[in-house]
Amino acid sequence: MNAEAMSQLMQAHRSIRQYEDRAIDPALIDRVLEEALHGSSSSGNLNMVSVVKTRDRERKHRLCELHFGQPMVDQAPLVLTFCADTFRTRQWLALREARAGFADFISWHVAGYDAIILAQTAALAFESHGLGICYMGTTLHSMGAIADFLELPPNCLPVTSLVVGWPAEQVAQRDRLPAAAWIHDERYQRPTTQELEARYGERERRGRERYLSLGPEMARLWQEHGITSLAQYYTSKIKYDPDRFAEDSAALRELLQARGFGA
Ligand SMILES: Cc1cc2nc3c(=O)[nH]c(=O)nc-3n(C[C@H](O)[C@H](O)[C@H](O)COP(=O)(O)O)c2cc1C
Repeated sequence: MNAEAMSQLMQAHRSIRQYEDRAIDPALIDRVLEEALHGSSSSGNLNMVSVVKTRDRERKHRLCELHFGQPMVDQAPLVLTFCADTFRTRQWLALREARAGFADFISWHVAGYDAIILAQTAALAFESHGLGICYMGTTLHSMGAIADFLELPPNCLPVTSLVVGWPAEQVAQRDRLPAAAWIHDERYQRPTTQELEARYGERERRGRERYLSLGPEMARLWQEHGITSLAQYYTSKIKYDPDRFAEDSAALRELLQARGFGA
């Protein structure tokens, strides 16, 4: 692939939330995943990742429930759960009578980064085949329950999931913050109020429009919760509620401890 084709692939990215009722060739799934691992850097080349494929409708339905009922988990023919996995590596170490390791908080991050890097390489690769994807951030909030459902061993936890399938919707490209907001030259540049206004203003207008265009229910909820701006929406009870995040963060800390990543 040349630079132009790569550029076009990235420009064509959209999260897809509606899918055709059509399976993906199993050989294509495995090929993409295998190539994606080759195409991803890996800490120490230890490949401390596992990916669980879910295609069975009933099992996908249970995953859908664990992903807070997001309908694309039911609809897409494939759900991929990307796991930070030091279990297999630790088994190998034991087999070779090496010192035990990788059962600590740093290893959780190391394996988690590998899993996320792999997920994004796979996402681009699936998109290059005309497939659509959507990340499932709910993986972080249901981590323990998903781990149990997929029968993950200790030292192995899901960090993200992708639904994958043939797109059944045309989606407009979503904007991103302008380069000046996040690319820094040599030193971090804290934005002034005027710069914040300039960089977020248009985004707020369009984001607000987009959410309110989702239907009268959303407009009603904004009113009920006293939300008057996009910023207020993000940390309201109906989006990324800081109280729920605090509760789920506490549960996550306990889970990491219980599953061997707490030390
Ligand atoms: C880690 C992560 C988690 C996400 N979780 C969800 C999710 O649970 N549900 C959803 O509809 N979209 C989810 N998304 C998709 C984002 O909403 C989407 O990437 C963003 O709005 C930008 O749109 P685009 O991907 O179409 O450019 C997630 C994206 C990322 C990177």
